[in-house]
Amino acid sequence: MRRVEAGVTRGQRVAFTIDGASVTAFKGETVLAAARAADMPIAGWCNMGSCGECMVTAASGMRVRACLTPVAEGLSVTTHG
Ligand code: FES
Repeated sequence: MRRVEAGVTRGQRVAFTIDGASVTAFKGETVLAAARAADMPIAGWCNMGSCGECMVTAASGMRVRACLTPVAEGLSVTTHG
């Protein structure tokens, strides 16, 4: 289900965590965009996968770029190693 809020079409609500803190985002957003919207401190500069400033660790242990990683229900990332 898509929602329109203030002229912006949003995807379904998605809950995930950053450093154990719950964050609500919308399907189609990246982890970095959701973090910024929630005032969570994830660094980032280019927002296109080039600089590597936004690296986070997924629950699988893989290091991923938050600006390229879509949010997903139950996703868990940490900002420290
Ligand atoms: S913000 Fe530059 S790689 Fe993500």
